[in-house]
Amino acid sequence: MPYSDQSFSNLYDLVVCMTRAVDLISPQVSNHHQQVAYLAYSIADAIRLPMEQKRTLVLAALLHDIGAIALHDRLDFIEDETSTVNDHAFIGARLFSGFPILKDVAAVIRFHHVSWDGGKGRFYKGEEVPLLSHILHLSDRIAVQVNRDENIISQMRPITENIKSRRNTSFVPEAVDAFLRICDKEALWLDFIYQPMVSDVPNDLSLEAIKLTLDEVVDLTQIFSRIIDFRSPFTAMHSAGVAAAALKLAELSGLSEDECKMMSIAGNLHDIGKLAIPREILEKQDKLEPLEYDIIRSHSFYTYRLLKPISGFETITQWASYHHEKLNGRGYPFHLKANRLSLGSRIMAVADIFTAITEDRPYRRGMPKEQAVAVLGRMVENGGISPAIFSLLVEHYASVSKIRRASAEKAISQYGKILSL
Ligand SMILES: [Fe+2]
Ligand SMILES: [Fe+2]
Ligand SMILES: [Fe+2]
Repeated sequence: MPYSDQSFSNLYDLVVCMTRAVDLISPQVSNHHQQVAYLAYSIADAIRLPMEQKRTLVLAALLHDIGAIALHDRLDFIEDETSTVNDHAFIGARLFSGFPILKDVAAVIRFHHVSWDGGKGRFYKGEEVPLLSHILHLSDRIAVQVNRDENIISQMRPITENIKSRRNTSFVPEAVDAFLRICDKEALWLDFIYQPMVSDVPNDLSLEAIKLTLDEVVDLTQIFSRIIDFRSPFTAMHSAGVAAAALKLAELSGLSEDECKMMSIAGNLHDIGKLAIPREILEKQDKLEPLEYDIIRSHSFYTYRLLKPISGFETITQWASYHHEKLNGRGYPFHLKANRLSLGSRIMAVADIFTAITEDRPYRRGMPKEQAVAVLGRMVENGGISPAIFSLLVEHYASVSKIRRASAEKAISQYGKILSL
């Protein structure tokens, strides 16, 4: 069934996937994005903002600190807002501003650390700061004050007093007043701790109704692939390379146009589970210790868990998360055998290995053709990867290589642009 002109998936499922992935980086601050989204929604609802604006605000809240991943990996959300606090906000905005459906969301993310400052915060260096950014700022600053180790109800009063004392200095009065109208309800705070997903509380957003076409999912997941890759300069183009190589192999294998787009999506997301792996391990240049290797082996499992709940992603989930499975059953983490590994999964496995061994890393050059073909050939002999896909790759080696390299170079140049502060 061709999907091209109709909806393939929905925006909310994809955004939630990304926030869950980010939660894996720093479990000690997990749910931060969901908690802020929940508070922002509650405040915006108390102001009686129109539904469209509430939607934009909630989506911005769900993605607001993602720029921090490319910067330094730590999402510790300390209470102090230092002079460089805007950096991650600008990077986040730059990442998403290229996707038309998230243009307004990017604008809100961009200024989520601008203080109200008695009204001066209406503008930042001559640009208008959206009211939604100020509501997001307030919600974020409420969230970071909550101590997760203490009873939430005992914290209601001191946090509220702090916010009240910063009305009109740090925070826009309108949003503080709205917060003060709802802050007496214990349920607000208990929900914040217990069940912060906006979709779990009564709301008028129908976020699932924002449908995406297959082409839009390709574009959005390319942005996600940048977030996954930019976490470490060591692999700043890996997903981009895998997606391009897998797409080319899919075309050569005769997959349909829609299936080829799905292959790009699977390539973009195949390593999303790597967000769960500490950066020191990803960047280690020496041989990994057994324990470190054990940690690495969980990443494609997380890819599976993160992608599975997304509507329309049944096939993509398999192609993306079986990329370390082997036809002889000796892969990981499911130990599937040939009868469970579809053509798409076989393509992805070859594209991933091919890209990993041929791409340059800061500490080593990629393998030249002969060496790469020898390595892959041994894997075919061992019954690990598909002989048919291997033959296709060897036959079209130059064109697959060229496409892989071009895609990697594009990612590297974007890496420079998006991170330039
Ligand atoms: Fe932030
Ligand atoms: Fe935050
Ligand atoms: Fe992988």
